[in-house]
Amino acid sequence: MTVSARAERDPLIRITDLSKFFGSVIALQGVTMTVYPGEVMCLLGDNGAGKSTLIKTLSGVHKPSQGEIEIEGRPVTFNSPKDALDAGIATVHQHLAIQPLMSVTRNFFMGREPTRGWGPFRTFDLAFAETTVREEMQKMGIDVRDPSQAVGTMSGGERQCVAIARAVYFGAKVLILDEPTSALGVKQAAVVLRYIAQAKAKGLAVVFITHNVHHAYPVADAFTILKRGRSYGTFRKSELTREQVLEMMAGGQELDALEAEIKEFTRSDGDGGVAPQTSKTVRREQGVKP
Ligand SMILES: Nc1ncnc2c1ncn2[C@@H]1O[C@H](COP(=O)(O)OP(=O)(O)O)[C@@H](O)[C@H]1O
Ligand SMILES: [Mg+2]
Repeated sequence: MTVSARAERDPLIRITDLSKFFGSVIALQGVTMTVYPGEVMCLLGDNGAGKSTLIKTLSGVHKPSQGEIEIEGRPVTFNSPKDALDAGIATVHQHLAIQPLMSVTRNFFMGREPTRGWGPFRTFDLAFAETTVREEMQKMGIDVRDPSQAVGTMSGGERQCVAIARAVYFGAKVLILDEPTSALGVKQAAVVLRYIAQAKAKGLAVVFITHNVHHAYPVADAFTILKRGRSYGTFRKSELTREQVLEMMAGGQELDALEAEIKEFTRSDGDGGVAPQTSKTVRREQGVKP
């Protein structure tokens, strides 16, 4: 796709100058990001960079302290995750909201149970629900032999897929995934990545959070890199090589480790004045630009 064609399209999500404070903690500051339909935006950044906070704000869990969120050109204010869901934003959070003892079918339809019958005779339509779950999971290449089996008995990758399939089935426009592959083995991660590609092909906008550049690079169209609540900017894939992405992420991690060490020095010395000099020396020794 050419640059001009992309510019003419309207973004599905536009986040402008977003900040989020928790008391004195600045979790996000002045973050701006646009995501287009049919594209995967990868959110990269170290632990504590603000990735989860950004998507929780986007999905109605947190209210922004400052800034604006627009969906399809309209400013939105979400008072709850349900508001975001109604606007077509489906989020699979880092700590999956799944009931391990509940069946696959019940989890899939949780909060949106299909019913049959009328008035006081309305009951959960189990036959429809089970057929649907089997079909939807089949589309992702997962063979659910028994939809009444507890979700807790499925593998991590399959559980992620239940959550994703559910979002797509209920008509999400935006799919947000917070580290869906981080606890998975190579094969299972591949299943989830393939499904991200499928969701994108269906025209959904995907916001994909990961620590792993090898998971991010194959599926991403663009990268937004967060560091301590601030955005390093958004880069198109064509602007960055895999190595450059890796460098940005690894560089950040190294600096963080370094700074944590320096803080420890200052604490044990009980003398803040030593810190800047120590910092410079260590940085030079490690070959990090000051
Ligand atoms: N509910 C909260 N209350 C206070 N501080 C929070 C809360 N949620 C996140 N933070 C802080 O905000 C920062 C960003 O956290 P988070 O968004 O979880 O980072 P990431 O997902 O990139 O690892 C961290 O310093 C974290 O401690
Ligand atoms: Mg997180």
